[in-house]
Amino acid sequence: MKKGGVVFCMCAAILLSACDKKTVSEKDSDAIDHKVEKLLSKMTLEEKIGQLDQITSAGNFDELAGRIKGYFVGSILNETNPQVINDLQRVAVEETRLGIPLIFARDVIHGFKTIFPVPLGQAASWNPETVEAGARVAAVEAASTGIRWTFAPMLDISRDARWGRIMESFGEDPHLSSILGIATVKGFQGSDLSDPTAILACAKHFVGYGAVESGKDYNITILSTEQLRNVYLRPFKAVVDAGVGTVMVSFNEVNGIPNSGNGYILRKVLRDDWGFDGVIVSDWNSIGEMINHGYAESPVHAAEIAMNAGVDIDMESHVYTPFLAQLLKEKKVKVSDIDDAVRRILKLKFKLGLFENPYVEIKEDPVFYAPEHLEIAKQAAIESAILLKNDGTLPLDVSSLNAVAVIGPMADAPHDQLGSWVFDGEKAHTVTPLTALREAFGEQVKIHYAAGLAYSRDTDRKGFTTALAVARSSDVILFFGGEESILSGEAHCRADITLPGAQKELLTEIAKTGKPVVLVVMAGRAIEIYKELPLVNAYLFNFHPGTMGGPAITDLLFGKAVPSGKLPISYPKMVGQSPLYYNHKNTGRPPVGELQTIDNIPLEAGQVSLGNTSYFLDAGKDPLFPFGFGLSYTTFEYNDLQLSSTELTADGSLTATCMVTNTGAVAAAETVQLYIRDKVGSVTRPVRELKDFHKIVLQPGESQPVSFTIAGRSLCFYNHEDVEILEPGDYSLWIAPHSAAGLEGEFRLQ
Ligand code: BGC
Repeated sequence: MKKGGVVFCMCAAILLSACDKKTVSEKDSDAIDHKVEKLLSKMTLEEKIGQLDQITSAGNFDELAGRIKGYFVGSILNETNPQVINDLQRVAVEETRLGIPLIFARDVIHGFKTIFPVPLGQAASWNPETVEAGARVAAVEAASTGIRWTFAPMLDISRDARWGRIMESFGEDPHLSSILGIATVKGFQGSDLSDPTAILACAKHFVGYGAVESGKDYNITILSTEQLRNVYLRPFKAVVDAGVGTVMVSFNEVNGIPNSGNGYILRKVLRDDWGFDGVIVSDWNSIGEMINHGYAESPVHAAEIAMNAGVDIDMESHVYTPFLAQLLKEKKVKVSDIDDAVRRILKLKFKLGLFENPYVEIKEDPVFYAPEHLEIAKQAAIESAILLKNDGTLPLDVSSLNAVAVIGPMADAPHDQLGSWVFDGEKAHTVTPLTALREAFGEQVKIHYAAGLAYSRDTDRKGFTTALAVARSSDVILFFGGEESILSGEAHCRADITLPGAQKELLTEIAKTGKPVVLVVMAGRAIEIYKELPLVNAYLFNFHPGTMGGPAITDLLFGKAVPSGKLPISYPKMVGQSPLYYNHKNTGRPPVGELQTIDNIPLEAGQVSLGNTSYFLDAGKDPLFPFGFGLSYTTFEYNDLQLSSTELTADGSLTATCMVTNTGAVAAAETVQLYIRDKVGSVTRPVRELKDFHKIVLQPGESQPVSFTIAGRSLCFYNHEDVEILEPGDYSLWIAPHSAAGLEGEFRLQ
């Protein structure tokens, strides 16, 4: 029961330690402000408006140079040739009146040349250090070409496997996304933006884009203030506090207002409430698209709405340069807003050191695919793989095998295992599972390869015969299935998320051989697999694992590495469960006890015979695998939950500790998770919320106490009046291996 005495919160304290350390260096802030003001005072209106224009380099050099000279363009995206970058920079620096340098931007999403697992895969590592290391490598490689701004991390909370961009997210949970978002920003930006290997990060897409209706890209979003604040905005707040330099507005509308024109989202939340002083950039043509949304009547109207809502940079809508001066004359936009936007852009250019050092040093020996980069990518791929089923078939013992069958369209798909949002990584550098297996074990066992299907959507069964022959002549079958990279990513949504093409049929035929089958999937989303799962002995799931996916998977299959990935999403049984997430509300009719399913309803059963609770007759109430779940080659036991107190005050904290023991035979990592439930709220609260996690490594037989500190203020949440509050009352907590298990304790917030 709640008592009175609601406390109004200033900040959710759980992320405070991370928020303290700003990654964007503030040390020369005053000096920079002075330089910015001096420069701004010299600028004409045209020069100012030019800084707000971002254009793509997809044009010929003379055309671009002409635009820079004529319209004082502020930033360019998608140029990756360092020579061209320097030449364009020379035009800006030497051939315009004030010589303001350009910033070159690129979507460096999960690696530049060395490609890491897609962000959703990285999230499965539950390891901020791994994620930060990957972003650092990406920054070093990208910055070596002159790119100083990336449009990542994507922090859209994603609860729907149909949505193609789920692969670009850190999954469904606000806390995990916050921690990994902060790690990414640190990796990209480093501790000092003027370091030539630092690149600006961009938190995108602000906001609610992951909640698009029916998982269909660009669709509308309807979100209450309470959902926006407690779920969708949280990772953005975390990275703003951590010093992210820029934020990108999303394509979608929220509650009827496209975000490129949404003053509540941009001015109230981002600027006023959070004090964000970095740059807000539109998405590609998102200002212009307000016309299609039916929110702006013309390009000039779109420019007016976006500037008034607070969008600083127009990426490719081409409406600021032609119309802002006219709008100013008509008093439809304010010069102070234009000045503020320019100030913020110039400030970042000074922080990046571009005025002192505008050109990139072109090195003979580029850093791309450096051995240490590949090693970090391999480690990330190892930590990102999630073992979802294993009857003991894995790890494989090479000494007991004579021949291994390698089958399936993803066994040797160097382009597709890289995943979506790869513009610069080259497939020639990819190491596929087939290559890695041959290299590691080709001398010890026979590796029989027959893809069976040429690519993931292939429906031609002519390769089945050879694949089956290969299967029959081997001791174990490794089936590499999944999705090509083009089946996920922007605008690549699917309503059917089963294995595409004839993969299900091939797998079914292969299983009939009676040989043990290990299914390895690489995909951009969870793949609906529950019908095929009984056919296989083990299931190792990977979101597209990147350049070093092959060696990582090989190490895992043969026990050189131990799986430790945990799901950053709830893995659906069926696509019809979407949107699916563990931190849902309880409803007035939560499902309890034995449920009647479509297969056991008696004939002509009465209308009210089913208990009338909230579940699907054909999919039940649970996902196939819960958020946070993942198996290992060992087992872990959780025992002896202790709370330092069962009473907590708003300004106090308590500690929850439990003993975790490795009860198996191999050393392995385990991610221990803390969940909390606020039992009664003035706004209904989720059945569980992840509040913290620790990834530990335990030797066989080793026990370790794992402790979590719960600060009273970490229990704050927003109500429907958009006010952050802390309500006294009873709470449950769980220290758990995943979101559907754990040792439960109780405490009371005074
Ligand atoms: C995407 C953004 C991306 C931008 C620039 C848009 O289509 O939504 O995420 O950063 O293009 O390439």
